[in-house]
Amino acid sequence: MEIDMKKVIVTLMVTLMTLMFNGSAIAGVTSLRGDSDLTDGADKYPMRKQVISQGGVDRSYKIQPPMIPHKIDKEKINLKINTCMKCHSEKTYKQKKAPKAGDSHYVSRDGKVLDTVSSRRYFCNQCHAPQLNADPIVNNQFEGAK
Ligand code: HEC
Ligand code: HEC
Repeated sequence: MEIDMKKVIVTLMVTLMTLMFNGSAIAGVTSLRGDSDLTDGADKYPMRKQVISQGGVDRSYKIQPPMIPHKIDKEKINLKINTCMKCHSEKTYKQKKAPKAGDSHYVSRDGKVLDTVSSRRYFCNQCHAPQLNADPIVNNQFEGAK
């Protein structure tokens, strides 16, 4: 009985090792980082240009966070600054002719209305996304509810 178990384990290990070392030879399978060797760096992804959409982007459903119709590659959001608020804050939006971040953005989780943007809404790009001219990674039939 004991010998049989050992045999089984050894056979399994040999099979596993063979699979591991021949893994790269499996036809048609390429890792996401391309065909580069393990010790090489990954190929650089081409940076796509962010798209400017005149007049904004239609929302697909009522309470969707609107898409960002301008570039944001120069904006910074960190512990110290949030450059989005240079234009979208209560104080600046009129002068910058930008829409003010919604009133919902100034409410704490306990329903208190705050003077500054709520920490729940501080990381704008958690919900608002800029646009790129890119094909969908997976085709889909999504249609917005208007
Ligand atoms: C230099 C000023 C400026 C800065 C900085 C800025 N925006 Fe804007 N944003 C605008 C203006 C102006 C509009 C109105 C549409 C347009 O003309 O592009 C706008 C539109 C938007 C909209 C669309 C609102 C709607 O109802 O469709 C979103 C969302 C938005 N910005 C988010 C952001 C986020 C997030 C950042 C930071 C990463 C940011 N903006 C930084 C000026 C700015
Ligand atoms: C947790 C998700 C979330 C985060 C984070 C967030 N937003 Fe929004 N935003 C929304 C939703 C949802 C709406 C649409 C409904 C509303 O106005 O509350 C919206 C609406 C807006 C609008 C359009 C307001 C209007 O009257 O049309 C602007 C501009 C905007 N957000 C800017 C910002 C900026 C700037 C930040 C960062 C300081 C930010 N948002 C962070 C979810 C978010």
